Amino acid sequence: MDIDRRAFIAALGGAVAVEAMSSDGLADALEHHMIERLEQAAGARSGEATERAYRRGVGSLFVFGGSGDGVFPANKLDPMPPAPTLLDFFKLRFAPANHVLQSATRALKTDMNEETILACLLHDVVLSLIKPDHGWWGAQLFEPYVSERVSWAIRYHQALRFYPDPSVGYEYPEMYTRIFGKDYVPPPHVKAAYAYARSHKWYMNARLITVNDLYSFDPNARVSIEPFIDTIGRHFKQPKDGLGNDNSPVAHMWRTLASPDQPL
Ligand SMILES: [Fe+2]
Ligand SMILES: [Fe+2]
Repeated sequence: MDIDRRAFIAALGGAVAVEAMSSDGLADALEHHMIERLEQAAGARSGEATERAYRRGVGSLFVFGGSGDGVFPANKLDPMPPAPTLLDFFKLRFAPANHVLQSATRALKTDMNEETILACLLHDVVLSLIKPDHGWWGAQLFEPYVSERVSWAIRYHQALRFYPDPSVGYEYPEMYTRIFGKDYVPPPHVKAAYAYARSHKWYMNARLITVNDLYSFDPNARVSIEPFIDTIGRHFKQPKDGLGNDNSPVAHMWRTLASPDQPL
């Protein structure tokens, strides 16, 4: 997927605004920009442009214009069923979820294990809710429902993106060099998270998310949630009363995703 550097910088408010951003903020903005271009190309939501009047880190579900150079129309959300499942959220709130579906499809096609496939499927969906530190937010959103290994992998993929690992063919994304310059240094908390994750026994679980991530920005890919339904059934502990109704420590996050128009 090609990134128009000028359009990307314009989407962030111009060169002066970009200079004022932290390098971590820039890195995340790039990933979000790529995901949004992909979602648009997948034909999810298109329409007239809107002006940005919100913080850049707001989740895509809360923004009619997308978080970049918005071209999404205001859209009415379909109501959620009374006991919503993960699949309901994929279909009614995360759709088209093209980026994560491409990641998980790549993991499936390369015969990775089911926990890795699930981690790839879930790794970025929290961007619908909020964008800064999305690895940490994403891990928290899923912690009560997946194995510790899966949520750990989601948490650390955010940091690992910036560090190559030739043993699995993961190179520092050429696109990051182009956009941020060759001297880019991730912020201290990302560096520390990488150092911690690098020597952890589950390192490879997080690393494989980045391996599948890198190749997952093809605007023409045809993907679907269907191949992952059995994996979800085996590895995602769906609460019987529905996500958001289960009184878990993160139930409010699911309710927020279900009802983003709720005023209070
Ligand atoms: Fe990510
Ligand atoms: Fe991703």
